[in-house]
Amino acid sequence: MKPNVLVTRRIYPEAIEYLKEHCEVDYADSDDGLPQDQLLPRLRGKQAILSQLMNKFTPEVIDSLDGLKIIANVAVGFDNIDVPAATRKGILVSNTPDVLTDTTADFAFTLLLAAARRVVEGHQYLHAGLWRKWAIDLLVGQDVHHRTLGIIGMGRIGKAVARRARGFSMRILYNDPVPAPEAITKELALERVSKEQVLRESDFVSLHVPLSESTVKLVGEPELRMMKKTAILVNSSRGPVVDEAALARALDERWITGAGLDVFEREPNVHPGLLKLTNVVLEPHIASASVDTRREMSMLAARNAVAALEGHRPPTLLNPELWDSLSRSKGA
Ligand code: DGY
Repeated sequence: MKPNVLVTRRIYPEAIEYLKEHCEVDYADSDDGLPQDQLLPRLRGKQAILSQLMNKFTPEVIDSLDGLKIIANVAVGFDNIDVPAATRKGILVSNTPDVLTDTTADFAFTLLLAAARRVVEGHQYLHAGLWRKWAIDLLVGQDVHHRTLGIIGMGRIGKAVARRARGFSMRILYNDPVPAPEAITKELALERVSKEQVLRESDFVSLHVPLSESTVKLVGEPELRMMKKTAILVNSSRGPVVDEAALARALDERWITGAGLDVFEREPNVHPGLLKLTNVVLEPHIASASVDTRREMSMLAARNAVAALEGHRPPTLLNPELWDSLSRSKGA
């Protein structure tokens, strides 16, 4: 008998085809997906789930699961899943790293350039029929080349953003509890400094930290006040990393010049203060949204689920210690 897998929301069809070769698939095939209150009832009798960011696996939800072998999240971020609780319950958890690194870094840089060079404002100005003549100071913005980029969170995506910044001859400061490997530090001329120094010295600050208790409101009023008046903040990590109300004030009162945001504290809602500003570029959480990358994310999540169901180590496991202890007890 084939194992049963629940897919909570639309993913790429190739991944569904692949799952169907190995499993019985219960597919909530819509953009709305499965509401949270239907998650537990639909999970009865399932051995795997392909989940997305809106599916919340709190310790309470996890405790009431029965027979589930793997939660395969279709995202690199996994703040929707309490991984330690899943580990205690004997449930494997996987995410989709690597396949989205370059695509997400491209988009972080797009936000940076768009905010610096006022691309959205220019587009709207032209569409509104306001463009009459060339003018020396029409929509002048901030230079990007040879400026200083501050990266908070030097993981895979942070490093990929740093690579792009090198192409623009930027000085790169970063803050991360873990120093970058020596070879990359040399290649990209990275300077590891305090968070305060990143904020004070950078012309652009780009956030690439995972969401956790220690990164909630990592950038709030005190941090925004530390930044240069000409600085631009870019957030393509998770919304709650920035205090949105404080940022709306900072942009409105020009403590900083601009921002590019792909993520928000209460998605899909955006702080009303941000919506009325012109010096912020707002995007609907699409940093990893290229056709190839979203297809690869779907496929990787499906491969993780099938591997676990067939007794193999899922390729991108978040709780490898559980896999090791399950393997040891099988061997015993
Ligand atoms: C991720 O992968 O964590 C993105 O934010 C959602 O695609």
